[in-house]
Amino acid sequence: MALQKRATLLIKNIGQLVTMAGPAPRLGSQMKQLEIIKDGGIAAAADEIIAVGKSGEIEGQSFLAESCKIIDAKGAVVTPGLIDPHTHPVFSMTREDDFEMRTLGKSYEEIAEAGGGIRSSVRDLRKTPRDIIEKKTGARLDRLISYGITTAEAKSGYGLSTESEIMQLEIIKGLNETHSIELVPTFLGAHEVPDEFRNNRQEYIDLIINEMLPLVTKRKLAQFCDVFCEESVFTIDESRRIQEAAKKLGLGLKFHADELKSTGGAELAALLGATSADHLVYISDAGIKALAASRTVATLLPGTSFSLRSKQYAPARKLIEAGAIVALATDCNPGSSYTESLPFVTTLASLQMRLTAAETLTAITVNAACAIGRQHRIGRLEPGMQADMVIWDMQDYREMPYHYAVNLVSQVIKKGNPVSLN
Ligand code: NIG
Ligand code: FE
Repeated sequence: MALQKRATLLIKNIGQLVTMAGPAPRLGSQMKQLEIIKDGGIAAAADEIIAVGKSGEIEGQSFLAESCKIIDAKGAVVTPGLIDPHTHPVFSMTREDDFEMRTLGKSYEEIAEAGGGIRSSVRDLRKTPRDIIEKKTGARLDRLISYGITTAEAKSGYGLSTESEIMQLEIIKGLNETHSIELVPTFLGAHEVPDEFRNNRQEYIDLIINEMLPLVTKRKLAQFCDVFCEESVFTIDESRRIQEAAKKLGLGLKFHADELKSTGGAELAALLGATSADHLVYISDAGIKALAASRTVATLLPGTSFSLRSKQYAPARKLIEAGAIVALATDCNPGSSYTESLPFVTTLASLQMRLTAAETLTAITVNAACAIGRQHRIGRLEPGMQADMVIWDMQDYREMPYHYAVNLVSQVIKKGNPVSLN
């Protein structure tokens, strides 16, 4: 095989090399196709994968650069770098008070009415110095990457004023440049109606449409626009107005849809050609049909049901059987799901939604890449793709959901470079 590029990284003796080679997205029974190479090897030149195959073959070829780093995986599992397509990592104050109130039986809505919830995070963020928010966000990114996440979507949404929404997006931009993890920025000015607009919500929606969105796009601070579409937050009509404006400006669309009640958010997401509709705990049969007939990814967040003490989980099997594209994410945020562990999310998806280990792995790699529009670059280990991978302290990939609440990552590679984990 004549290879132009010389390998700068070679991983050999991989017990299970989970390549995920093949179509993106994976639908229905395709979610079980992981394309595993036993006793595999993989080589990268700078940030690009150049060869994938049997360890002996990859190793036997004399195309190594002099400085090539060789890692012996000693029979361990290697997967693509995990992708977390839904996080809210930019906040300062944590909300263990809210958590404790839930322990004592209060609901998410009751806690918000009692002064907790999103608006308490907003009040705190607005008065916190930027460097402190930056530092705390950076620590969360350290934890995300330590769990094998090499790319994460990251939302604003705890500022809810032009200035503080922009500040959050600037923090995401800055950390994307300095941190090993790759971030995909999403503007979420429509996360809640802030205190000062409670009696005039139309004016806040106008502010989002006429001031925030044009500024965010002009400054190229976001790839997506998201909205918390819920009866008690932004109605279907309000969400539609906001998202139509975002679409006109060229942003991709995401929705928090049907999280607390069935409101038709999934149908609206499909209708507007959104990249993803997320949560979907209370999605209707019409919503399932609409997603299945679209390219909109159903991003499910079982950590949120778990942390809200809900018995209700999104109907993952129904969505898969209907032919919808299913991904999984942490929803890492201070209120409804404070975790950076995507592997733990696979445990919840297995036990509470009855996804097999293979399906969960597809949902946090190739399908998660589709949920952020990056399926041409990440989520699979094939020549030409970005060299993002994880070496696990596992002999079988199915240990990921099974051996829960521990970190089994042994080495993370981002863009061909080993990451030193904090
Ligand atoms: O995804 N649903 C809206 N946003 C978050 C919760 C944010 C918060 O409580 O701070 C979520 O669940
Ligand atoms: Fe969320």
